[in-house]
Amino acid sequence: MLNRVISGKIKICGIIGDPIEHTMSPVMHNAAFARMGLDYLFVPFRVRKEGLRQAIDGVRGLNIRGLGVTIPHKVAVIPLLDELDPLAEKIGAVNIIVNDDGVLKGYNTDAGGFLQALLSRGVEPEGKNVVVLGAGGASRAVSFILAERGANLVVVNRTGDKAKELADRILASFHRETQALKLDGENLAGALSQADILVNATSVGMSPNIDGTLLPAKLLKPDLVVCDIVYNPIRTRLLREAEEAGAKAVSGLDMLVWQGALAFELWTGLKAPVALMREEVVKVL
Ligand code: ATR
Repeated sequence: MLNRVISGKIKICGIIGDPIEHTMSPVMHNAAFARMGLDYLFVPFRVRKEGLRQAIDGVRGLNIRGLGVTIPHKVAVIPLLDELDPLAEKIGAVNIIVNDDGVLKGYNTDAGGFLQALLSRGVEPEGKNVVVLGAGGASRAVSFILAERGANLVVVNRTGDKAKELADRILASFHRETQALKLDGENLAGALSQADILVNATSVGMSPNIDGTLLPAKLLKPDLVVCDIVYNPIRTRLLREAEEAGAKAVSGLDMLVWQGALAFELWTGLKAPVALMREEVVKVL
């Protein structure tokens, strides 16, 4: 319950998307603002596709400090902004906007959040062989930050052409050769035999279809790091089977919290209370 005085000095941040009912961002950010004693408030806004331009005009008109951007606006919002962080530009998607005196700049903290999630667990992807499952928007953020960090990537996707397209974009943006494979048992087994890190960047395994996994458990091994972008459930079938095989499991929850932490730092200039943000999300999940 909101139990505070709202003064004229308050700074507003929010998130736009459709649907937006299930967003974790307000819980995470309002707890962080309160902990840090900041006069900030975070609110969710349901913004339909056709209302996006008006919403961004509203950010300028109402002097909103910052926004999170989620489905379906991450790509469409780009031409409405004044500046783009170079990585967000390469990825072609924005999930965070910062408003500095009317200048709106877009960032992609999904990418940076994924890297931080790995680093915070003591995993350095530079020079490692990484298999990424999926070639959609989430995979693009994950794959691009891994390529920028110097990982050797194999993209495996149900639709082979989309894997190839993503590999071509990685080559063009980062001059790193990336292998593109169609998702099948043989390709998976081949890719996994060389892999240090595996990332599920598809929605497979997400609630309510919690029995889903793209990776046969027999391909898991103790020296593998397994990451899932899915955070609901926190422990997906893939992560459970990874742990059972002795592998290190990195949850999508970590990525969610770290992308929020990076956004918090962009909006406030302060270091985020990451542990608290994580606790608050876990309570809701
Ligand atoms: P997002 O932005 O969340 O990544 P997306 O762009 O729709 O969403 O991409 C979803 C990804 O999950 C795709 O790589 C998709 O594979 P296709 O390109 O073949 O569609 C993958 N995906 C979703 N459901 C899947 C399933 N049941 N089996 C295999 N891959 C699946």
